[in-house]
Amino acid sequence: MILVLNGPNLNRLGLREPGVYGSQTLEDLERLCETWGAELGVPVTCRQSNYEGQLLEWIQDAEAHGFSGIVINPGALTHYSYALRDAISGQPLPVVEVHISNVDAREEFRHRSVTAAVCKGKISGLGFLGYRLAMEALVEGNG
Ligand code: DQA
Repeated sequence: MILVLNGPNLNRLGLREPGVYGSQTLEDLERLCETWGAELGVPVTCRQSNYEGQLLEWIQDAEAHGFSGIVINPGALTHYSYALRDAISGQPLPVVEVHISNVDAREEFRHRSVTAAVCKGKISGLGFLGYRLAMEALVEGNG
C-alpha cells in the first residue's frame, strides 16, 4: 500500500502557475495515481495538506497504518524543512521525492532540497509522470 503525499499549495494545481505546473488539478493527479496503482497492483492512498505538522504526522504514522512506501511532493517545504527531513529519516519506509517542475532549472533557492538526502531517490521535471515512476520504483523494491 503506497501513500502519496502532496504538500503546501499543491491543492492549487490547475490554477497555480499553469505554465509551470500544467492545467490539470490535484484531483486529476490523485485519480491518475489511483489508476496507476491499480495497474501496478498496489492500493494507493492520496493526501494533501498545506500544514507541515499534518504531513509529519502522516509520515510518522504511515508504517503503523500498513503502508509500504511513500511518494511525497513536499512543495516549498523541500527547500527548508528540517522537521520534514527528520520525519522521513525517523521512520523505516522508503520515500521517493517528486517535483512536477524541474527545480534545478528554476530559482536558486529551489536547487537545494533538505529532504532528498534522506529519500531513496528524487524525480524532478517530468510532470505528473514522476509520481508514476516513483510508485514503480517502490513496487519494484528499488524505491
Ligand atoms: C514543487 C517545486 C517547489 O519548488 C515548489 O515550491 C512547489 C512545487 C514541484 O512540484 O515542482 O510547491 O515541489
